[in-house]
Parts: sequence; C-alpha cells; structure tokens
Amino acid sequence: MPVYCITGANRGLGLEFVRQLAKLQDNTIIATTRSKSSDLSDLKAVSSPNTHILECDTADLNSIQAFATETKKTLEGKKIDFLLNNAGVNSVPTQNSLSIGPEDLQREISINVLGPAKTVEFLLGEDLLAQNVRIMNMTSGLGSMSVSLSINPRKCATYSISKAGLNMLTVHQSGDLKSKLSDVVVICMDPGWVKTRMGGEGAVLEPEVSIGGMLKVVHELQESDTGKFYTYTGEEVKW
Ligand SMILES: NC(=O)c1ccc[n+]([C@@H]2O[C@H](COP(=O)([O-])OP(=O)(O)OC[C@H]3O[C@@H](n4cnc5c(N)ncnc54)[C@H](OP(=O)(O)O)[C@@H]3O)[C@@H](O)[C@H]2O)c1
Repeated sequence: MPVYCITGANRGLGLEFVRQLAKLQDNTIIATTRSKSSDLSDLKAVSSPNTHILECDTADLNSIQAFATETKKTLEGKKIDFLLNNAGVNSVPTQNSLSIGPEDLQREISINVLGPAKTVEFLLGEDLLAQNVRIMNMTSGLGSMSVSLSINPRKCATYSISKAGLNMLTVHQSGDLKSKLSDVVVICMDPGWVKTRMGGEGAVLEPEVSIGGMLKVVHELQESDTGKFYTYTGEEVKW
C-alpha cells in the first residue's frame, strides 16, 4: 500500500491531508512537524496506527537531513510514493514590493523554496523516493505571474515572490529528477483560498473540499503532467 509523506502536518492543510489519508488504514503516512514540542494533539487524534510523526523544520538543513535519516529507519525498505511539500509561511502579508524586509524575504524563501528543494534532495540521497513518486509542491495562485497581474492592488509581495520561486523549482525538479527516477512526476498546486490560520478572515473553502480535490488530482497524475501547475480542481494554471 502507498507511502505518503506530508510536511507541516500538525495543523491547517497538512493536518487535513493526514485526516483524509489515515481513513485508509493500509496507507503508511509520514507526517512531519516543525517541532515535536508543538501541540500535536490534533495530529495524534487523526492519525492511524500506520502514521509516523517525525520532526522536520524545513527552514533548517540539518533538521531536514536528520528527518531523511529517520525516515529511512522508519520505512524499513519501503519508499515514498507521494511527497506532499505542504509546509509554508506567509508571515508579512502587508509588505508590498516597495517595502520588502530583507530578512522576511530570506525567511520565506528559506521555508517556501529551499525547504522543498532540500527535502527532495535529501530524501533522494537516502534512496527513499519510489521510481514513480508523485511530488506536489504546495504553491498559491499568488505565485502565478498571470494571476498576480490581474490583482489590483497586488497582494502579499514577499510571499508571492517566494511561491513564484517554488513554481520555478517545480519546473527544475521535473527536469532534473528524470535522470534519477524513471516515472517521476513533479507538479505544483494551488489549494484555493482555504479556512486555515494562513487563509485567515474571508477564506471561502473548507479544508476538506480543498484537500479532497488535491488528492484526486495527485492520484490521477500521468507522466505527461510533470512540470505543470494545477488548482485543487485539476485545472491547469498559467504561469
Ligand atoms: N490557506 C490558504 O488559503 C492557502 C492558499 C494558498 C496556498 N496555501 C499554502 O498551503 C500550505 C499550507 O498552508 P495552511 O493554510 O495550512 O497554513 P497554516 O495553517 O499556517 O499551516 C502552515 C503549516 O506549515 C508549517 N510550517 C511553517 N513553517 C515551517 C517550518 N519551518 N518547518 C516545518 N513546518 C513549517 C506550520 O507548522 P507550525 O505549526 O510549527 O508553524 C503548519 O503546520 C502553505 O504552503 C501555504 O502557502 C494556503
């Protein structure tokens, strides 16, 4: 039965991924949290006996490597079939392109771009990715140039720039992994505007609907879909 790995699983959309996937008891789930000292009660409540909660701070390269090593021990020869790079931050939504804080941009790039890059690199280094692994980088409509051009005034410059970087990472991973894994598919996906702490006031979608849609899209991916950008409904998004 398939092995799923989800980053940022202690709350929000990551938690909803685990809730839905854990309903099938045969699924093996690696659910990661930035820190094991966080409140993990919600995550434990939705976990199945085959859910393993591991620490992975995606802003910290040592933590990501330690997580990859720990995953190797946990999976005992099994490999990851679905890697859902979900962890992300949007900590300074009011900044625009004329007020970007240098440290804020560095932090968002570190978590939203370098984190997913190194997660893939280090899991591959431990030979933990299945030949036909599906990798989903959780992006945002705000990471699309086309979508951002249509929003006036523009929104969340710092975050938007980092998610555009994540989109480009997706394009590069989809090319670079081809020589390492025979049937790999890498995509990025916009979950819609969802009712989580990040989604905040005004969000319109229930996590259940967004994640139900995303899982359907991820499960139906074909090799020819690699390197593309989708919404949770399966529509392709213009870069
Ligand atoms: N909600 C939306 O409307 C929306 C829209 C577009 C895109 N997204 C994307 O969807 C993903 C999930 O968002 P969400 O709405 O679920 O946000 P959320 O409720 O704020 O949850 C974010 C998750 O990411 C984790 N995280 C943050 N920094 C981390 C780090 N350094 N290492 C490991 N985990 C870290 C958080 O862990 P802690 O609890 O430890 O902070 C938390 O589990 C993000 O990539 C976000 O950009 C969301």
